[in-house]
Amino acid sequence: RLVYVLNGPNLNLLGKRQPHIYGHETLADVERDCRALAGELGLTLRFHQSNREYEIIDWIHEAREEAGGIVINPAAFTHTSVAVLDALNTFEGPVIECHISNVHKREAFRHHSYVSLRADGVIAGFGTQGYQLALRRVARLIDDKAA
Ligand code: DQA
Repeated sequence: RLVYVLNGPNLNLLGKRQPHIYGHETLADVERDCRALAGELGLTLRFHQSNREYEIIDWIHEAREEAGGIVINPAAFTHTSVAVLDALNTFEGPVIECHISNVHKREAFRHHSYVSLRADGVIAGFGTQGYQLALRRVARLIDDKAA
């Protein structure tokens, strides 16, 4: 059970970037916690971050061949990228969209998500803990699909 955890632009600066919004944990901390949970859940993880839209798309294409599910924090691409939505629409397994902040409490332009048109579930405003919840959900959906 392979799961891709994909992170969009500026998330490499997590922990340093607007900590009042995104907290003090770094993306390396998030990856470490995700790997620990994946071990418990019997998942194998590919954990990636990029500031480049095409790399996110290429990883989704890779996931098509290899992965059972995707957890994605598309960051700003959430609100702009038909291309990321189109890529996710080619993926057959479960997709969970994850946002650290509560996007609905923020600027109006963050209230719309292209990715939500495809996501099986959305998590927002749980801080970095949202990744753990998203992983649990994706594991459940992969199992349900196999049953
Ligand atoms: C984010 C929310 C987005 O609106 C923003 O562009 C991000 C991070 C979040 O995790 O809360 O970069 O996806």
